[in-house]
Amino acid sequence: TQPEPCNIVIFGAGGDLSKRKLLPALARMQRWNLIAPESRIIGILREGTWNLDTWKAYVRQSLEEFRSDNVNDEESWGHISQMLELTIGDLGEAEMYQRLRQTLKSANGKTNVLFYLAIPPDWYEATVSNLHAEGLLDESDGFRRIVIEKPFGNDLNSARELNRRIGEYAGESQIYRIDHYLGKEGVQNLMVFRFANTVFEPLWNRNYIDHVQISVSESLGVEYRAGYYEKAGALVDMIQSHLIQVMTLVAMESPISLEGNAVRDEKVKILKSVRPIPVERVNEFAVRAQYAGGTRDGKRILAYRDEEGVDPSSTIDTFAAVKLYIDNWRWQDVPFLLRTGKRLPERVSEITIRFKQPPKNLFSVTQQHLPQNELIFRLHPEEGMIYLLNAKLPGLNDKLRELALDAPYAVSGADSPEAYETLLHDVLLGQSALFSRADEVEESWRIVAPIMEAWKERRGLHFYEANTWDIPGMEELMEDCVGCWRDLSATHQHGYTP
Ligand code: BG6
Repeated sequence: TQPEPCNIVIFGAGGDLSKRKLLPALARMQRWNLIAPESRIIGILREGTWNLDTWKAYVRQSLEEFRSDNVNDEESWGHISQMLELTIGDLGEAEMYQRLRQTLKSANGKTNVLFYLAIPPDWYEATVSNLHAEGLLDESDGFRRIVIEKPFGNDLNSARELNRRIGEYAGESQIYRIDHYLGKEGVQNLMVFRFANTVFEPLWNRNYIDHVQISVSESLGVEYRAGYYEKAGALVDMIQSHLIQVMTLVAMESPISLEGNAVRDEKVKILKSVRPIPVERVNEFAVRAQYAGGTRDGKRILAYRDEEGVDPSSTIDTFAAVKLYIDNWRWQDVPFLLRTGKRLPERVSEITIRFKQPPKNLFSVTQQHLPQNELIFRLHPEEGMIYLLNAKLPGLNDKLRELALDAPYAVSGADSPEAYETLLHDVLLGQSALFSRADEVEESWRIVAPIMEAWKERRGLHFYEANTWDIPGMEELMEDCVGCWRDLSATHQHGYTP
């Protein structure tokens, strides 16, 4: 569907997110006719080096470097280039908003505007308040939508306060809190898989599922983001947002429709059912660790504490694992294990649904315990689903093997949209199901709050060697589960040796 023409205003247009993700996403959307040709992309840029030529050169370079389909021919550039405009000024300067008002033009008698806040979180409230003061959030001649990046607040109280303040200037229906994980094809496929098929839903509960694992491992370290990461850590950077969001989609009941609030109502019910973790028992439910030095391909990897901008005695978690319980009829006592870390050997993201063991093992001659059935949704490196079953090893023997029904998600030749493309398209269409509502964000902060509180103390931090999977303390979280953490390494074979 092609949305109505829109003025897409990027605050922080010269920043990293804009360069790596937003501009390439908009260019690809243009190619697929997912943006109306009369639309404009308006960069808000600081006074100094910027003018229309430097802005255009910047966008072009960003597309050349980061556009995933590498379609950078003159024709395609021509389409994008004619959409580009800019407004110069500072976020805190009232005149900038007046100038922006001049830049915003109507198309077909309507002035639709999408404001993308790709700026430091400290500026969210002031920017929205300035937009409001200048009358730029008034929807009488077209929609006004605001996209806000994570982190939304830095704890429960600050998120509540930010919601309250922004809510004074803009209606909840105008606010799109973005979580790029929800734009990933594999994550959306979860909903389709669950609610467009009949075979698995009857099994999707505590009677058949032993536990669920949601894992995101990254091979990169903190990179150039120490300033932010030193205040966040893996728990806040990844679990509070992306992993908890994915968990809600695994666990929620079927919504009454795909309409924004219908889906979010169900997600909030799950978040509200998450059992609170007592601060004094956090070490039974959560593990944190930090990467020490290591090697990769013969090259030395710095320890986190030696990275630029990091406090040499930092206790920030670069790995975090959490065990959550959802206290409702469907999931009572089923552990949901969420883990994520940086500087692990590979970049892998997956969701594993591990089923219970068969009630009796008839095949004990060959195996003491039958491996459990597993359903794996892979988000990275290759999107797809794997169903692990037990089968007979062919031949005159009584041995079993693990059979992997492996279904890559991609259709050959198809170019799947990137997460930001899907999400920007949804904002332009006014579809909010894949964006977090105020109460969702607050509930996820509530879930991690006791862990954050306990981790203020210096004790309890483990260290792991960079580029290894061996995280001390992690196995203890598996106490209530049958089986162990899924091996994420690419070399891990699905089958077991008969
Ligand atoms: C971001 C985090 O939200 O997600 C980063 O701030 C992390 O630290 C990134 O690297 C991971 O996203 P993806 O899509 O690469 O798995």
